[in-house]
Amino acid sequence: MLKWLETLPWFMAAPSITKLAYKTLQGSKNLAGLAHKGISTKLMEFLAPGGTPEVSPLQGELLHDLKKSMEELEKVDWQEAEQGIYPISQLFEAPWIEWARRYPLIWLDLPFTWDRRRKRNTRDIPNKINRQKYPDYYLQNFHHQTDGYFSDFSAGLYDLQVEILFNGTADSMRRRIISPLKKGLKNFQDRNQSTLRILDVATGTGRTLKQIRSSMSDVELIGIDLSAAYLRQASRYLNKRGSDIAQLIRGNAENLPFKSNSMQGVTCVYLLHELPKGSRQKVINECMRVLEPGGIFVLADSIQKEDSPKFETVLENFPKAFHEPYYNDYVSDNIEEKLSNSGFISIEANSHFMTRVWSAIKPIENKT
Ligand SMILES: C[S@@+](CC[C@H](N)C(=O)[O-])C[C@H]1O[C@@H](n2cnc3c(N)ncnc32)[C@H](O)[C@@H]1O
Repeated sequence: MLKWLETLPWFMAAPSITKLAYKTLQGSKNLAGLAHKGISTKLMEFLAPGGTPEVSPLQGELLHDLKKSMEELEKVDWQEAEQGIYPISQLFEAPWIEWARRYPLIWLDLPFTWDRRRKRNTRDIPNKINRQKYPDYYLQNFHHQTDGYFSDFSAGLYDLQVEILFNGTADSMRRRIISPLKKGLKNFQDRNQSTLRILDVATGTGRTLKQIRSSMSDVELIGIDLSAAYLRQASRYLNKRGSDIAQLIRGNAENLPFKSNSMQGVTCVYLLHELPKGSRQKVINECMRVLEPGGIFVLADSIQKEDSPKFETVLENFPKAFHEPYYNDYVSDNIEEKLSNSGFISIEANSHFMTRVWSAIKPIENKT
C-alpha cells in the first residue's frame, strides 16, 4: 500500500501538488493506453489484415464527449478521495513493478489474439480443464484472450489489459462503487465494523476488494469467482503478509455458496455483460438472497444504450473488436427491472464514463 505517502509533509501540506501528480498520472495512463492501442492496431492491419475488426471511426463531437466524460470521472475520483471516502493514496495504487514486468508479454501474446479473432475461434481454451465444472457460456475466450479465464498467464495480464482498454480509467471507474457501498452500510452503523461482511461477486483478480479494503480496513471481505487462476492472482495481490485475509472462494454467482441473509454488502463489477440474459437475473436474485435485510447491493458494469445514447457507436464497436458474445444483449437489457424483480428497493443509478453503477437495498421486511 502507498499509505506511507500520506505521512510525507509535502503530501499533507500541498494537496495541490498531489492533485497535480494524480492528474499527471491519469494523463500519462490515458496517453499510454491510446498509444498502445494505436500501435497495436496498425501492427494488426499490417501483419494480420484478415482479423482487423470493422469498427466505426470515433470522430468530432463523440470524441469531445468522451474526453469530457473522462474528465468528469477524474474530477469525481479526486473529490471523493478528498472527502475521505477512500484514502488519496488509493489513487496511486497499482502493482506498477509487476505491470512493467508483464507488459512485454501483452505484445508477445498479440499474434495469438489476432489469430483467434481472424479464425473466429472463440472456444480455444486449455484441453486439460474439466468442462463439467463450468456453465457452457463460460467456456469461451472472452475478449479473445489466451486461455479464456483458465490460466495463470491470462490472470497475470488481465488487470493491465483492462487498464489499457479503458485508457487508464478502469480503477477510477471501479472506485465509483465505494461511496454507495459506504452509504448503504450506514444501515448497520450501530454494529462493530469488523462484524460486517462484504461479498464481491465475480471478483476476478480482486481489484475491487483491494479498493474496499483500503477504504474500510476492518470489514470482513469475501470474493467469489469461477476462475481458480484469477483467484490465485487475487490472493497474491490481496493477502499480503500483515494484512487481514480476504476469503476467496471458487464458485458460480448463479448459485452462491452462502447462507441467506449472511452479508451486509454485496458488490459485483463487470460481470453482467459477460452473462446470457437469464443468468443475469439469477445472479441478481442470488445477491438479493445472501444479503441481510437492510443490506446494500452495488452493481457496476458497462453503460447502456438508454442511459448513454451519445456513446452508442462506442457500445456498438466494443463487441466487434473483442469477443463479447452477450454484450449486445446486455446494453439493451433493463437492469433496474431485474433489480426490482428480485425485490430490491431504493434503486439508484449513475454513469461514470464507460461504467454504470446501480445501488439497491434489500427491504427490511424481506426475510428470504
Ligand atoms: C470481466 S471480469 C471482471 C472481474 C472483476 N470484477 C473486475 O472488476 O475486473 C469477469 C469475471 O467474472 C467471472 N465470472 C464469469 N461468470 C461467472 C459466474 N457465473 N460465476 C462467478 N464468476 C464468473 C470471470 O471468471 C471473471 O473473473
